[in-house]
Amino acid sequence: MKRNPYFEQISNRYLFQEVRHRLLHFKDKSPDARVISLSIGDTTEPIGPHTIQGLHDAVQALGDRATYTGYGPEQGFADVREAISKTIYQGKVPSDDIFVSDGSKCDIGRLQLLFGPACSVALQTPSYPVYQDTSLLFRNNPLILLPCTAENGFVPDLSPAASADILFLCNPCNPTGRAFSFSQLEQIVHFAIKHSITIIFDSAYSSYVQPGFPKSIYEIPGADTVAIELGSFSKIAGFSGVRLAWSVVPSKLNYSTGQPIKPDWMRIATTFFNGASIISQKGGMAVLSDAGMKEIDDQVNFYLANTKILKEAFTERGLEVYGGTHSPYLWVRFHGLSSWQAFDKMLQDMHIVTTPGIGFGQAGDGFLRISSFGSRASVTEAANRIKGGCLCSTQQ
Ligand code: MLT
Repeated sequence: MKRNPYFEQISNRYLFQEVRHRLLHFKDKSPDARVISLSIGDTTEPIGPHTIQGLHDAVQALGDRATYTGYGPEQGFADVREAISKTIYQGKVPSDDIFVSDGSKCDIGRLQLLFGPACSVALQTPSYPVYQDTSLLFRNNPLILLPCTAENGFVPDLSPAASADILFLCNPCNPTGRAFSFSQLEQIVHFAIKHSITIIFDSAYSSYVQPGFPKSIYEIPGADTVAIELGSFSKIAGFSGVRLAWSVVPSKLNYSTGQPIKPDWMRIATTFFNGASIISQKGGMAVLSDAGMKEIDDQVNFYLANTKILKEAFTERGLEVYGGTHSPYLWVRFHGLSSWQAFDKMLQDMHIVTTPGIGFGQAGDGFLRISSFGSRASVTEAANRIKGGCLCSTQQ
């Protein structure tokens, strides 16, 4: 078989695989180092008891002939879609437009099938590397990159995207932590309507968005004619290992030919996918109850408090720090160092593993992304190491 030639367009390793590779190399050379990870955005805190009960009940039901079920509906259980509609969108997004899935990353890959090989893709740089990698794996049209820099307040100039078919937006942005204001998002939606662009709005971190800022693109009138939204339970409910997400493909969203997009998304859901796990969907139902939403708030507040601890430490060191208000990530600038040099310095000098900004796109060079997903003890120790500038004993 011939290799898909588009593999030539992407690096050999996915960003976090590359980070892990370098970390293992470091650990080989410094086996006694107590490394703290502030790298991949992976939740660390246990899931709350109400949600755990929902997961338990689902497992129990599978062990009883009377309640056992096999495949669920490909679009997701109706009660889960209704609960997402009611709890996340206050009923403003119809449950019939919601598709439950096993993760936003998988949805991004499957969306590329929907777009096809000819379309032109615009995206923020830096942004979640999966938009770029999956776009390049499906076609060789040059990407339209929209720089988000400290100088433009991490809000991109959209004009280069006027000719695009697809615009990926991450809000709040992973990695910069920037959340769009209502007026900024309104301008983006109007731009997309004017230029017939379909927006893919990734709201995986929406629970971190503070009051007064839009959590969903559908809070902007007219967005349901131009936007697909992706939501996830991973970062909001600690479901990164459980796996549960959703996409919204509104009935009003059409191709440039006027044909509706939703039936094709349903075709992809039914052809490439057999639905999200029953267990995670039942866990999702528990999350979407009042008690579950309280557990989410507690988790989000916990990680935001971690962010504050880390932000203070970097600020005390005189570094330029962004993000952390609407997001569990900090975006820290290291003047005079490339991202990988800063990564090596943090790892060698402080035994802290981070994520190099350049892994999110060229415009991220010179930055590190710092994740606040971690226990309070490890985050506090990391903050002390950052303030102290060096090290921690290498003995356990
Ligand atoms: C991140 O750390 O940005 C992601 O959540 C990890 C991933 O999905 O690759």
